[in-house]
Amino acid sequence: MKKQYKYLLNENDIPKQWYNIVPDLPNPLPPQLNPQTMEPIGPEDLAPLFPMGLILQEVSDQNYIDIPEPVLELYKIYRPSPMYRALRLEEALGTKSRIYYKYEGGSPSGSHKPNTAIPQAFYNAEEGIKKMVTETGAGQWGSALSFACQAFGIDLEVFQVAASYASKPHRKTMMEIYGATVHPSPSERTDIGKQFLSQDPNTPGSLGIAISEAIEVARKEEGTRYALGSVLNHVLMHQSIIGLEALKQMEMAEDYPDIIVGCTGGGSNFTGLFSPFAKNNMESNKKTIIRAVEPQACPSLTKGVYTYDFGDSVGMAPVVKMHTLGSSFVPDPIHAGGLRYHGMAPLVSHLKEINAIEAKAYGQKECFEAGVNFARTEGIVPAPEATHAVKGAIDAALECKKNGESKTILFNLCGHGHFDMKAYGDYFEGSLAEDKFDKGSMDKALEDLPKIA
Ligand SMILES: Cc1ncc(COP(=O)(O)O)c(C=O)c1O
Repeated sequence: MKKQYKYLLNENDIPKQWYNIVPDLPNPLPPQLNPQTMEPIGPEDLAPLFPMGLILQEVSDQNYIDIPEPVLELYKIYRPSPMYRALRLEEALGTKSRIYYKYEGGSPSGSHKPNTAIPQAFYNAEEGIKKMVTETGAGQWGSALSFACQAFGIDLEVFQVAASYASKPHRKTMMEIYGATVHPSPSERTDIGKQFLSQDPNTPGSLGIAISEAIEVARKEEGTRYALGSVLNHVLMHQSIIGLEALKQMEMAEDYPDIIVGCTGGGSNFTGLFSPFAKNNMESNKKTIIRAVEPQACPSLTKGVYTYDFGDSVGMAPVVKMHTLGSSFVPDPIHAGGLRYHGMAPLVSHLKEINAIEAKAYGQKECFEAGVNFARTEGIVPAPEATHAVKGAIDAALECKKNGESKTILFNLCGHGHFDMKAYGDYFEGSLAEDKFDKGSMDKALEDLPKIA
């Protein structure tokens, strides 16, 4: 096996199509439901929120979808992204396994999120949309969409979850540099925000609440469309560019992953990496283990129930079948803000149900420890979300070492942590709270599941 640090593709190697895994699934995905009628959703139900270009992708039965030229042009700013072999980490762990990582932190906003922000802004601009609205957990999605919206001449309003707004003020400034307006969520800007603030003025907020606020604005303001940074099929499909490039890079390395690891908030960076490899699992004799890693404070895949639930806190988003902790569940304010979502992508949930993927949950302290070890060997400071994938990959390598095995591990280093120094500072000061998951709160939140006939 060659000993090489990085595998780089050329600009003309950027895939020209996204891969849509949905039509290749052994069983179809359960339909999304309209939150008012609980009937299967049609394109007309989604039209007030999304442009038709994206709605058609959401329900597409095509395996491959052409990437429009203006999107490819913007991708060229930062794609193809590098795939590294973590030689120094391998040495520090004393493992015979090979650890590779796809690095998405070199994008303008610092994570994988522009891979979908750019096409989402593009399809909105194509349909003449001049204003968009969204939520952001870690600030990464908000920054990515702010960048993409300014590129296509669209105004953007962002609801940033209160806990992240307080701990990451520079993310707000970054969004403002790109021209967006940012509110802490819950906010006084919306009726829903006012309602949550009156119940608890000090609430840390949640992605579910921020989504509700953004949808309220999109519904009330004529001509404004909403954008979601994860969960939906079209978002996960845009992220397949990661895995398609990684397939080529693994070929360059003359290797193939036995284990793929990714962190999961709504499931987009994880699916983006694994979907082309999952296709090989389904269609050839490949047997790659595909492992999601989530926080113990918000363990939708490992502790949630698989059922229909609301995608947001007040029942405005489509009702989908997914692993959920209940739409009113407010996770502890851990530093991995992008992983604080009560549910999981229906696609990822479905694959978990049919045992095509597996899941593990870790506490934030052990993840930051893994992140610091990674930074000290490989040099890159991972985003708090990405430390979960680092921890998952390190554990997989150590498990192989214990069993005397040598395997190939590939994980997604989906973002850098340059705006997360408060989190790393808390880790060094020993003031990071241990993750708490309150099953009672989940059970209570699950009482509000939608009633489906
Ligand atoms: C750096 C980073 N990683 C991961 C996530 C989780 O999202 P997803 O599971 O859709 O990749 C986020 C979400 O904000 C993020 O900012």
